[in-house]
Amino acid sequence: MAFEEILMRKRMLYVVIVCIVLVCGEENVQYSNDDHTALLSFMTGIVSDPEHVLESWNSTGVHMCAWKGVMCNTARTHVVQLDLSGNSLQGTISPALSNLSYLTVLDLSDNFFSGHIPKELGSLFRLKQLSFSSNVLEGDIPTDLGQLNRLVYFNLGSNRLEGQIPPSLFCNGTSSLQYVDLSNNSLTGKIPLWDQCELLELRFLLLWSNKLVGQIPPTLSKSSKLEWLDLESNSLNGELPVEIVKNMPRLQFLYLSDNNFIAHSGNSNLTPFFASLVNCSNLQELEVAGNSLGGEIPSIIGDLSTSLVQINLGENHIYGSIPPSIANLVNVTLLNFSSNLLNGSIPSGISRMRKLERVYLSNNSFSDLSKNRLSGSIPDSLSNLFQLRRLLLFDNHLTGTIPPSLGQCINLEILDLSHNRISGMIPSEVAGLSSLKLYLNLSNNFLEGSIPFELSKMDMILAIDFSSNNLSGAIPAQLGSCIALESLNLSRNLLHGHFPVPIGKLPYLQELDISSNQLTGDILQFLQVSATLKNLKISFNNFSGTIPKDGIFKSITVYSLQGNPGLCGSLSGMPPCKKKKILRSIIMPVLIMLIGTPIVCCFGYPLVFRARTRQKSAIFVEDVSDDEEQATTRSKYPRISYQQLVEATGGFNNSSLIGSGSFGHVYKGVLQDNTRIAVKVLNLKMGGETGSFKRECQVLRRIRHRNLIRIITACSRPDFKALVLPLMSNGSLESHIYPATGSSQSLNLLQLVSICTDIAEGVAYLHHHAPMQVVHCDLKPSNILLDKDMTALVTDFGIAKLVKGGDGQGCEDPADLHLFSISSTEGLLCGSIGYIAPEYGLGRHASTEGDVYSFGVLLLEFITGKRPTDILFQEGSNLAEWVKSLYPNKLEPIAQQALLRFPPPGTPVYTKIFQDVIYEMIELGLMCTQRSPSMRPSMLDVAHEMGWLKQYLSNPSTLPI
Ligand SMILES: *[C@@H]1O[C@H](CO)[C@@H](O)[C@H](O)[C@H]1NC(C)=O
Ligand SMILES: *[C@@H]1O[C@H](CO)[C@@H](O)[C@H](O)[C@H]1NC(C)=O
Ligand SMILES: *[C@@H]1O[C@H](CO)[C@@H](O)[C@H](O)[C@H]1NC(C)=O
Ligand SMILES: *[C@@H]1O[C@H](CO)[C@@H](O)[C@H](O)[C@H]1NC(C)=O
Repeated sequence: MAFEEILMRKRMLYVVIVCIVLVCGEENVQYSNDDHTALLSFMTGIVSDPEHVLESWNSTGVHMCAWKGVMCNTARTHVVQLDLSGNSLQGTISPALSNLSYLTVLDLSDNFFSGHIPKELGSLFRLKQLSFSSNVLEGDIPTDLGQLNRLVYFNLGSNRLEGQIPPSLFCNGTSSLQYVDLSNNSLTGKIPLWDQCELLELRFLLLWSNKLVGQIPPTLSKSSKLEWLDLESNSLNGELPVEIVKNMPRLQFLYLSDNNFIAHSGNSNLTPFFASLVNCSNLQELEVAGNSLGGEIPSIIGDLSTSLVQINLGENHIYGSIPPSIANLVNVTLLNFSSNLLNGSIPSGISRMRKLERVYLSNNSFSDLSKNRLSGSIPDSLSNLFQLRRLLLFDNHLTGTIPPSLGQCINLEILDLSHNRISGMIPSEVAGLSSLKLYLNLSNNFLEGSIPFELSKMDMILAIDFSSNNLSGAIPAQLGSCIALESLNLSRNLLHGHFPVPIGKLPYLQELDISSNQLTGDILQFLQVSATLKNLKISFNNFSGTIPKDGIFKSITVYSLQGNPGLCGSLSGMPPCKKKKILRSIIMPVLIMLIGTPIVCCFGYPLVFRARTRQKSAIFVEDVSDDEEQATTRSKYPRISYQQLVEATGGFNNSSLIGSGSFGHVYKGVLQDNTRIAVKVLNLKMGGETGSFKRECQVLRRIRHRNLIRIITACSRPDFKALVLPLMSNGSLESHIYPATGSSQSLNLLQLVSICTDIAEGVAYLHHHAPMQVVHCDLKPSNILLDKDMTALVTDFGIAKLVKGGDGQGCEDPADLHLFSISSTEGLLCGSIGYIAPEYGLGRHASTEGDVYSFGVLLLEFITGKRPTDILFQEGSNLAEWVKSLYPNKLEPIAQQALLRFPPPGTPVYTKIFQDVIYEMIELGLMCTQRSPSMRPSMLDVAHEMGWLKQYLSNPSTLPI
């Protein structure tokens, strides 16, 4: 419950109680000069009266009974009420007030009175109402106040009182107390309601936000008129009160949150507690959140009063499923079960709870221990909840699709379904929820399809987050109508096309993250005009153009721009703008010459138009290396001991083995912090010197690129050397190119082209931009790993050098090569059969050209679907030679075959585009696999070429055909 709400309710209560007090009449007594003197003494204690309420007190000739805040008896002889609440008075409370012996009401609440409460006030035996709430009073509550045994309303809430609650308050004769509020102080000790004490008239007991300990006193069960019990935010313990609340049929508000209560039967049974509340026919709010309560929600919860409006059981350790009987509670507007250990599905009967406004079933980040794991799909029937204002279901295991009927929840203000496993499209009905005010978060799911343009109706929404899904298509320009939008995150999807200008012109837009998509064009010029934009991230797209210098770009870092091969400018870390010669114009004549057949007429147009379109500079974006990044990277290299690796992999158990290669075995494992790792244990038959191993590892660790696997750490002992790498959830490319029989999981053409682009960029970095030039030596599908977004990461680069001990230049020495080939099970250390460049067989040194050759083989392998190690090629020929023999006139069967494996979407236009791309990849493969190393393109050129193909495939319309 909101703090303001509490205060407001309490103020209303106060009015009620004051009326009770006033009805009890006044008394007629002789004039008292003492009262006059007492009031004047009281006034001297006041040091500031900004609202001049005491003006009348200070003027001569005004009778005391006419002073502001003073009320006398009818005979005007004695003061019976002093009410100076809410006047911003500053000062101390004078003990002289104790001489106002006829006083029944003393209210100094909502001022700035400081100091102690005078113990003398205990002599005001006629007092029925005492309120000092919301001041800055300190010290103990005087024991003498226990003498006020006609007191009905007693409120010292929201001060700075400390010490224990004096037992005399609750325990001196027959108490008439109805309202006790000591909340929001720093009171300590137990609640002093001893056995012989009884508060039979008590209706309100508010002790929230103190430091009270111990159990709820059993004697409280005698206060059977209790309506409101608020003990929130203390350190109370023991089992949840059962015998106590059983005797309180009038209970309306029960707040026990944020204490140390436990459930019955050793914190495992919540049934007695809920059962004891069944007879509270007026119960409106029940809050037991934040208590580490165990047990399941009993189905008897459905037998609670239908008057119940709010239930908060959040932040506990409640497990099991949500009982369907919850749906009986038809008057509930707030249901908070967040941050528990609940599982199962959301009961569809919940739709009967027509008044629900706020549904919190999410985990939230308060505690890592408590994560709900609700599964199943979102019930369609939620749509009946017309009053629903907030639906928070994030961080569960929800599956299925977003029910379009949610669009009927026309009062919805917040919708957060993020971090689930929801798939399908975003229904246009939901996108059209114009009521959404605060945010719409659908991030980290498996949503696909395009972004519905109906979003334009959300003209009040402040933030939209669709990041980390599989959304495709173009970003609808209609988003420019979400006029209040401050934050838009569409990152990590498959969006392509241009970024719509109207979105960049949104008047309040502060954050825009569209990174890791396939967006194209030049968006920078118009974004620099935005006056509000503070955060911009467009990295890893295909944006192009010159980086401007104004607006957001004054403060932008290369980190936000990297991975856009077409971007250039004077920003440090970005390539300067310059023209580059066109690859095609060099390669083509060479290829024609080599193959000796005129080809221009065969599939001439792609070549021609490409020559026209590829005017842009080919720039390879180097990885970031600003200081901050370096620092975080360094801290990402934890020290991991041999012992930890043994534990993580179950003692390098066979069941953890995920791969074997010429360099050793690879095991999967989980570190204690739940990091999933792959441990590559290097085969050290040939020995190796620890010092150089470490040195080489250090160099390799400094190699950082989006498409190169990051080395978490290296573990080195004389007899054991291992590299610890992050485990990639989608395994190696090998398993995707050649899926196990029965599994239909295969790549589509765009994914394949994207993967090839990634590989090319990673290797190009190794060749041309890494701190030292690294020759991979062993490019093949099993050395390409795929992360959860199907981004390809090249692994095993430079390992040749590591194993060897770093004394030479990689595997350059033919003698070494020979030696290694003996110790390896799969063939030569530098390269694998089928992928290895022909010159290596002639004793040539390992080279970047050799890697280009292997990459060419990869391309041809992907397109033809034939392993380069197939029997077919083993007699004198190889994959490249075979394809070359069919080039260019007999490629049709290969292309047709490829189209079957990578079927284009229905339309003929796409068939043509796919065909183009397939032919282009074959050509590139042939260029890379030319016999003469010097005739092969560089990896930079290859990466550029692949990037271009990817762009063409994902957004053909942007290119002139
Ligand atoms: C009352 O009047 C005196 C003298 O006029 C002044 O000094 C004092 O501050 C006044 N007190 C209050 C509470 O207004
Ligand atoms: C109450 O009034 C009497 C008589 O005027 C006086 O002596 C005494 O000090 C007063 N009490 C307080 C606490 O000011
Ligand atoms: C209890 O109240 C009586 C007056 O009713 C008083 O004389 C006595 O001191 C009080 N006891 C305590 C402990 O406050
Ligand atoms: C729901 O609450 C309202 C008051 O808020 C009450 O009048 C009504 O009777 C309740 N409905 C049921 C079924 O108890």
